[in-house]
Amino acid sequence: MRPRAILFVCLGNICRSPVAEGVFRQTLQSHLPEESAQWLIDSAGTSNHHQGDHPDLRSMAHAASQGLDISMLKSRPFTAEDFQRFDHILVMDDSNLSNVLSLASSDADRSKVSLMLEVSFPGENRQVPDPYYGGDKGFQVAYDLLTQASADWLSQWQN
Ligand code: 4NP
Repeated sequence: MRPRAILFVCLGNICRSPVAEGVFRQTLQSHLPEESAQWLIDSAGTSNHHQGDHPDLRSMAHAASQGLDISMLKSRPFTAEDFQRFDHILVMDDSNLSNVLSLASSDADRSKVSLMLEVSFPGENRQVPDPYYGGDKGFQVAYDLLTQASADWLSQWQN
């Protein structure tokens, strides 16, 4: 499979998209160990509110409990230049979708953007719920959805 550049996007880039980045990288490394280093995998937030922050402690703890270290990641804002650098931009919810699309300047840009869960639940407009204001369960739900979708995207791109 041709190496690709993938960007995961949520609001703050501290809860969902850093987990998506880490889980997808882990999935890629286990399925395609030889070419995984050639892929560009990153995440960003539509808000710059948490710029420079490491992931939320609860996201890091859930990831660590599954053997995944995302503690080195740092939040950064999504910018229009990301449309040039990435082949696919996968967003967590409808709000992320409209914020990202508002910075698109061509049909080519727009065609790169999808809901993260579209691959697993086609046509259902399924969202990765924002766990920030909720309890621990939301982090587990997000983690499980992101694990499923990561495997599904990789298998879609392999076909
Ligand atoms: P995320 O979650 O978009 O998954 O990173 C949030 C993080 C921070 C805030 C909201 C959602 N916030 O309002 O600060």
